[in-house]
Amino acid sequence: MLSVSICIPTRNEEGNIKRLNQGIYDALIPYTPESKYEIVVVDDSTDKTATIARAFGARVIKGKGMGLGQAIIDGIAASQNEVVLVMDGDGSHDPQAIPSLLKPILDQGADIVIGSRYVKGGDYSNWAFNRKVKSLVGVKLMQLVTGVRDSNSGFFAFRRSIVDSSMLNGKTWKIMLEVLFKGKWISKVEVPITFGDRQTGESKRSTRQVFKDAINVIRLLIWKFPKRYVSFAVIGGIGAISYFAVFWAITEYGHIWYGASYFIATMVAMTQNYIMNHFITFREPTSHNIGKLKLKGFGVITLCLALVKYVMEYVRKTKPRNINHLKGFGAYFAGSWVGELVEYLVMIFLTEVFGIFYLLSDFIGSGFSSVIKYTIARKKVWNDDKRTASSPDYEWHAFYKGLPWQKRWKRIIASIVKEFAEYPDGEAGRVLDVGCGASPQGLMINHSDYLGLDPREGKINFMKSKDLRKCWFIHGDLGTVTFTEDGFFDTVLFIEVIEHLSEMDEARFNLHQMHRLLKTGGKLVVATPNFEGFMGKWMDRLYGIFQRNAYQKEHQLKFGLESLRELCEDCGFEYVKSEIPSGADMVCLFRKVD
Ligand code: GDD
Ligand code: MN
Repeated sequence: MLSVSICIPTRNEEGNIKRLNQGIYDALIPYTPESKYEIVVVDDSTDKTATIARAFGARVIKGKGMGLGQAIIDGIAASQNEVVLVMDGDGSHDPQAIPSLLKPILDQGADIVIGSRYVKGGDYSNWAFNRKVKSLVGVKLMQLVTGVRDSNSGFFAFRRSIVDSSMLNGKTWKIMLEVLFKGKWISKVEVPITFGDRQTGESKRSTRQVFKDAINVIRLLIWKFPKRYVSFAVIGGIGAISYFAVFWAITEYGHIWYGASYFIATMVAMTQNYIMNHFITFREPTSHNIGKLKLKGFGVITLCLALVKYVMEYVRKTKPRNINHLKGFGAYFAGSWVGELVEYLVMIFLTEVFGIFYLLSDFIGSGFSSVIKYTIARKKVWNDDKRTASSPDYEWHAFYKGLPWQKRWKRIIASIVKEFAEYPDGEAGRVLDVGCGASPQGLMINHSDYLGLDPREGKINFMKSKDLRKCWFIHGDLGTVTFTEDGFFDTVLFIEVIEHLSEMDEARFNLHQMHRLLKTGGKLVVATPNFEGFMGKWMDRLYGIFQRNAYQKEHQLKFGLESLRELCEDCGFEYVKSEIPSGADMVCLFRKVD
């Protein structure tokens, strides 16, 4: 079901708002029988915009007179539905594009969708040449720091639940960036739009505002900077002081040989760092909203008081993590020595090769060492962001936020699967995805109904939580769930699953069930690593080495194209075609013959 709030900020748009509302109603007609939507207009006008909007069924909220950004935030806060879509009220965003912005959220589980002029199919309609150039320069600069191809369109949609509107800064116009940087999302999609021009009236955007938006991007980047790293580095600095103090004291007054006291001092400092990091740096949030550091004035006392208040709030809203200290300290100790070794090597290298003064080389080296120690502490000691193949959102995360090559690879496979699965009318009909896991790949296919089946309950619950339209998820497999209606499905997907089965008989059983459930002539798409190819074998092995959390250990049935084809033909399928991108993975299309 569609549940969306369309949020429109307006200031003196009486000439445009009527046409816009009408356009929104028209655009939403395909959804109307089962939809829940509202138009929320946040108005700061001195003209009749509010009256006209109300007459056309919008809920009008009085703006605070604090500019476009604040108006959008107030609109988001007032939105009552699960998805929020933000667009300009001057007619430059075409309401016809609304369905394409909603679709990835409703059908594919995206968390945030950005209307973009700079993806394939996007455009500006009739902008003057110099406006285009100015805009392009700004947008490209922004892309470098935000990774979004069009951070300026102002036309976007997102799941309401990913962001707390009170965290957003209303001084900037780029609320999309605020949501992107501060929201808790996994999947972001850019879809093409054509940016028109306002129908009547004039633009309210000033050079001053452009400047403010640029400053805000810097603030967002600082906001994203790992504050925990600062804490870690400060604690490391305090540790260094303890180290020298102990080293000196026990050598001079304990009469210990400096070659031995060095190790004692090091151990003391490491233990101190470990304890401080455990109780300060790597605390676990209990509620995620730790207030902002608010400063009134710039006096030293104000700053100190604000800091104390901030730290107190931080401690109140977090708790130390529950970890095994024996293992933890071992890993911390080892990580620290790795860091020291790197520091030493960098120092020698810079001094010997570039002739840099040794204290400076060591200082640079300690920068490297601190980042290494921090990373090891974060990942190996206090187990941050630990996601393994069994995490509920593992595949989802890999698809949208994985390593660049991983993302690219998954997209290549997804696009072949989509191409194979869809019938000439561009639809795959009723789709059954066996062993869907938490992968969005199957959702990229146009379907009339989609049923995902997986024996891992966590993953099924994750997918259910996305509330996708026309998608159902069942916990189980073809052995435990009994489908009674033969020939019910038009398309069956078996994507990266068959290699996890332990026996050939199990594979046969699954294929026979699929055969029964498919209509005659229906499609079966199978994807699995190409274990007979050189690339397939090596990719699998490398994957096992570098992505230890992933699936490689579980690979048991290893097919090549011939053996896979033989098996499927044995089970009543006819081979149609296959693609083996880079020789590593096979995607094969079969048809059910009777
Ligand atoms: N409530 C409220 N309060 N709305 C405002 C205010 C305000 O103070 N200022 C502007 N708006 C509304 C306008 O009524 C319009 O619906 C929308 O915000 C965009 O304002 P325009 O004045 O049309 O600005 P623009 O077209 O220059 O800027 C748009 O295009 C830029 C790309 O060139 C915006 O979408 C920008 O975000 C975008 O970067
Ligand atoms: Mn405009």
